[in-house]
Amino acid sequence: MPQFAQRVGRAKPSAIMVVAEKAKALKAAGRDIISFSIGVPNFLPGPHVYEAARQSLDHDSGQYGSNRGRDDLLDAFLGHLRGLGLDGYERRNCAVAVGAKHVLYNLAEALLDEGDTIAFPTPYWTSYLDIAEIVGADIQLLPCPPENDYKLTPDQLDQALARKPRVFLFNNPSNPTGMVYSRDEIAALARVLARHPDTWVITDDIYNSMVFDDVGYHNFVQFEPSLRERVIFVDSLSKTYGMPGWRVGLMAGPESVAQALVTLNSNHITSLPEVVTAAAVAALSGPQDVPQQKRAEFQARRDQVLAAMRAITGVVCPRPQGAFYVFPDVSCAFGRRHGELAIGNDVDLCQVLLQVKGVACVPGSAFGEPRGMRISYTCPAEQLPEGLRRIQEFFAELSD
Ligand SMILES: Cc1ncc(COP(=O)(O)O)c(C=O)c1O
Repeated sequence: MPQFAQRVGRAKPSAIMVVAEKAKALKAAGRDIISFSIGVPNFLPGPHVYEAARQSLDHDSGQYGSNRGRDDLLDAFLGHLRGLGLDGYERRNCAVAVGAKHVLYNLAEALLDEGDTIAFPTPYWTSYLDIAEIVGADIQLLPCPPENDYKLTPDQLDQALARKPRVFLFNNPSNPTGMVYSRDEIAALARVLARHPDTWVITDDIYNSMVFDDVGYHNFVQFEPSLRERVIFVDSLSKTYGMPGWRVGLMAGPESVAQALVTLNSNHITSLPEVVTAAAVAALSGPQDVPQQKRAEFQARRDQVLAAMRAITGVVCPRPQGAFYVFPDVSCAFGRRHGELAIGNDVDLCQVLLQVKGVACVPGSAFGEPRGMRISYTCPAEQLPEGLRRIQEFFAELSD
């Protein structure tokens, strides 16, 4: 029997999907399930996006496209970057991919040899670990506990970079915590990064338009321009525009890195489809009212979830300021029971909660923080208060 490559053995199915699948199965069996599990935006882009896609079909060339991405898409992305305060990039600094996940995978292939180290804060988005494992990188986790609002400190970063990891991977706003670094926090981390020239810096900032409380979005290169030689900004249309299924990811960074991704694209995907490109251009350069409305709506939902979690005795809930996640520390429930069902850890907690109350959340260990539980609050509006009520009821019913 022929063997698989070793890297396939290192790849694991996403823990988030495991919970989502279980919730789906219970729903199919007739249970009333409220899903706070997957991080999908649950809204659709504006009509101009569909109109652009239809027009593109009417004029379809049927040909392969550019490995880097079509010029009008790169220009629309450059406009979006300028709107975020990121000036000075040109087409040659950019490349597209089939979603941000594919950008990140391409970057791992381009920047990491087997045995090279990638450092990233914990809690982390699950795919960081999986992608690093597939390419055989050594992983250096930088713990950011709830006591520190799940944020990395400059001292921590300094110590981590002293070990000269090949790549430092940063995520702001964060999935799973929803935390957003302030202007001053980004400036302080940028000063540390500037002192460590041997490390590439990836900023996975795909939730950059989902920032609340006027904190704003900030990037290291705005404070230390020398970092432009090493910082790679990753973006996506999935969350901002309600387009996860369209699969559009983008990057901006050093020309050499963009060129490496273009070469990988020429071997992996060749190009994005024409119709997808047209829709992406329309999303990035057309009216921005849908993402703006959603940001306001998600901020109000964040308030609801935060208030509900903080009302539960023993639950500690740092205040998220972006994305659409809340990540309470629920370890107060460990060692307790719901009826006959014992809760030893976060996985038990999420399973029992799903079983008895029909609410699906993701155990924090999927993100490297087993004291936590991720609540994704993009479900249909009427389900949110009911789901939160059930979680509160669940905690109130726990016994020793
Ligand atoms: C932090 C983060 N980065 C990247 C991605 C991947 O996004 P895309 O749909 O563009 O592949 C996700 C999706 O959940 C995410 O949360």
